[in-house]
Amino acid sequence: MSAALKVRVSAAKMLTPMVREFTLQPCADALPGFSPGSHVQVHLPLADGKVRNAYSLTSDPADNQHYRIAVRLQEVSRGGSHYLHRQVQVGDTLEISPPANLFALHSTASLHILIAGGIGITPFMAYIAALEQQRADFELHYLNRPGVSDAYVEELQQRLGSRLHTYACRPDLNPILRDRPLGSHVYTCGPQPLLDAVRQQAKALGWPKSRVHWEAFNAAQPGQPFALELLRSGQRLKVGAEQSLLEALESAGLKIPNLCRGGVCGQCMTRHVSGEIEHRDSFLSPAEQAEFLMPCVSRGCGPCVSLDL
Ligand code: FES
Repeated sequence: MSAALKVRVSAAKMLTPMVREFTLQPCADALPGFSPGSHVQVHLPLADGKVRNAYSLTSDPADNQHYRIAVRLQEVSRGGSHYLHRQVQVGDTLEISPPANLFALHSTASLHILIAGGIGITPFMAYIAALEQQRADFELHYLNRPGVSDAYVEELQQRLGSRLHTYACRPDLNPILRDRPLGSHVYTCGPQPLLDAVRQQAKALGWPKSRVHWEAFNAAQPGQPFALELLRSGQRLKVGAEQSLLEALESAGLKIPNLCRGGVCGQCMTRHVSGEIEHRDSFLSPAEQAEFLMPCVSRGCGPCVSLDL
């Protein structure tokens, strides 16, 4: 895994009462380039230990002078969004992971249909910059709650004109996806019910799977504390209520591959040997879950879990 980058918060502003935007500049070397749809993990020193939350880069991928992220305050969370909203100030230094992309833009598409729900607009801000530069054909369907999650509506109205369609509740997806030009791709990001609805509608209309893309916003959620036994090394650890299993492993010095930290990319897959597991990922099939777990989101729901590590 690549080394963390040190960045300074050069600007922070509230886009709505729930969404705070941060501009991040490098403390030393230039920032690595990134492709539209990339995210970074922000390392947050919370009371229970270090937490890493993934946020999409919203800035223009052609500009590597700074990165920009937008963070929605989550009512139910382990404290990462609260920390970024209430503790972090302009001038502070943060550690982030280098950008990774699990939601790439398919630049050969004849038409790009972007469907965002709430804070799911964030990866599309970088998409839009790239699509405008490529003079590509695209349209944005943006579901938001005015005054809560309408972070970029005004900016996008001016920028996109009739390419922007806004909705206060989920629209009928049939006319958005029916009879679109050959070679169209649809991308969606936002709450799981929206993603499911887009995928179901696309399937019902005969869209090939390879032209339907989605990114879920999953993050580790708190749970009961439990004990952890690592069978190969013989180590015994404790996983706190606010800590993910992956974070507990990292605090003990283990290097587990990871990209999304949200149970979708499959990178952190680990074999479990005993103990009751609460699977919270969207990657493994039920049959696979009998043998493996995703420690970024899944956790033990009994007193002890043992892992093949
Ligand atoms: S880091 Fe992606 S599934 Fe765990």
